[in-house]
Amino acid sequence: MFVTFEGLDFCGKSTQVELLEKYFIDKKKKVIVIREPGGTPISEKIRDILLDKKNSEMADETELLLFSASRSQLVNQTIIKSIENNYIVISDRFHDSSIAYQGYGRGIDLDFVTKLQNFAIGKAVPDMTFFIDIPVEEVVKRMSKVKKIELDRIENSRLDFYHRVRDGYIFMTENNKRFRKIDGMLPKDEVNKIIITEIERFRKAI
Ligand code: TYD
Repeated sequence: MFVTFEGLDFCGKSTQVELLEKYFIDKKKKVIVIREPGGTPISEKIRDILLDKKNSEMADETELLLFSASRSQLVNQTIIKSIENNYIVISDRFHDSSIAYQGYGRGIDLDFVTKLQNFAIGKAVPDMTFFIDIPVEEVVKRMSKVKKIELDRIENSRLDFYHRVRDGYIFMTENNKRFRKIDGMLPKDEVNKIIITEIERFRKAI
């Protein structure tokens, strides 16, 4: 089974990925967790370029291509083999992040972004995708706490960007059966329970 987690920054998906991994380990299942961008030596190098604050001149198109290149390597080197060897693969972000962030967020042509993602992931289409939804105001609150920046220093352009990304995720969730939208304002144990229920339902059905 291949499960992906999506959502805005600070939505709590990394915590949910950890809790789900623990659930499967406790059940003695073979499980692999990957993080995007990254997950292979080549992909981690691309991650460093993407997240390096010195690279502020990076064009949106370059950013999209680098995320996609990193993903393609991860699919070919790790994901496909792991699925074939009956591992449960859990990914903290995957191709939907590029559709939401680079497509809806940065405004790159959605058809093109989607086609590029299909090219990059090939057969590795997730079975289930959890969208952990929190309001943009909550992102700002959590961000200002972690980064110790004042709320009013977070520019409008960044807020607009997050609104577009969230709207994109909501649209994708409503138009694709693979998605499950979960309220990220719920306590983390409750979110974890919902996720496990959904996954066990899926596993019983196959
Ligand atoms: P990540 O390390 O997952 O950060 P977080 O744990 O806060 O979600 O992702 C880093 C940033 O990269 C995050 O702001 C989302 C962004 N991103 C994209 O814009 N496109 C992508 O395809 C991916 C995978 C991430």
